Amino acid sequence: MTSGGDAPGMNACVRSLVRSAGSHKLLIDGIIRGYEGMINGDFEPMSARSVANIIHRGGTILKTARSKEFRTKEGRQQAYEQLKVNHIDAVVAIGGNGTFTGADIFTKEFGIPFIGIPGTIDNDLYGTDYTIGFDTAVNTAIEAIDRIRDTADSHDRLFFIEVMGRDSGYIALYTGIGVGAGNILLPETDTDYDELVNVLKAGVKRKKLFNLIIVAEGNKTGGAIKIAEEVKKRFDHYETKVTIIGHLQRGGAPTAADRLLSSRLGYAAIEGLMNGERNVMVGIINQEIVYTPLKDAITKAKKLNPDLVKMSGILAT
Ligand code: F6P
Repeated sequence: MTSGGDAPGMNACVRSLVRSAGSHKLLIDGIIRGYEGMINGDFEPMSARSVANIIHRGGTILKTARSKEFRTKEGRQQAYEQLKVNHIDAVVAIGGNGTFTGADIFTKEFGIPFIGIPGTIDNDLYGTDYTIGFDTAVNTAIEAIDRIRDTADSHDRLFFIEVMGRDSGYIALYTGIGVGAGNILLPETDTDYDELVNVLKAGVKRKKLFNLIIVAEGNKTGGAIKIAEEVKKRFDHYETKVTIIGHLQRGGAPTAADRLLSSRLGYAAIEGLMNGERNVMVGIINQEIVYTPLKDAITKAKKLNPDLVKMSGILAT
């Protein structure tokens, strides 16, 4: 099943799972709409042919949802009964933190083995260098911001551009480096307006005529609109604009990197299951497949690389 926010590459992963399972003669059902489908018994038998022609498609053919009912004991009980009636012995879930939190509780309550696959554009899961969809989201954001740069440059404007990332600055940091942003405001660090304004003033002194500032959606000081207002109050040199990229960066065809990652993780999930891995998330760290207990994947923090944060500041000067 796919669960939580959709991410480009989920379909490539479903394809890989179904075909890898087929090589072990396992029978596979797709669960439709994540935990909602599990509760309602919405299962579809899948075969190598049912996953043809999807490797390049964004979204998820299995649909997805953020289930409130699965957070209740009654919902999980019903989900367990549906799995039993439908002879499901193990579940592979592609999703993020919420999905694995549910899985961790469920396996403890009912003993159904789970394998998690990290699928979220936020790249906020411990136990893998990258999550499915992150690379595509960053590429999409960069492509969009390159266009904004044309206007910023032509009109000498200051743009505050908000990218996704509920609690994590990965998308903002990688996008900011990729577009050569003047500043990147992350959820992991508090925004100091005085410091930000000083950087802008110094830029103006160096005849920096336009500026792109990337704001992560989860920034604790507020989103791009609030930050732009506050900066304007303190420093009114630039004509200021705000763009929120929003769900644009979650859709679209997965990049080559995401297709490869998705294919590898799907294959490794089935191999792991066959080799006795239980209640783990499969990830790739330094090119190697790694199985991390679900508990660690959801509770341990994946920190931003401080070298990248430092470098982004130096390159922005
Ligand atoms: O977790 C992925 C993500 O796109 C976050 O970056 C964002 O905060 C959230 O999902 C938005 O979720 P929804 O599409 O349910 O509003």
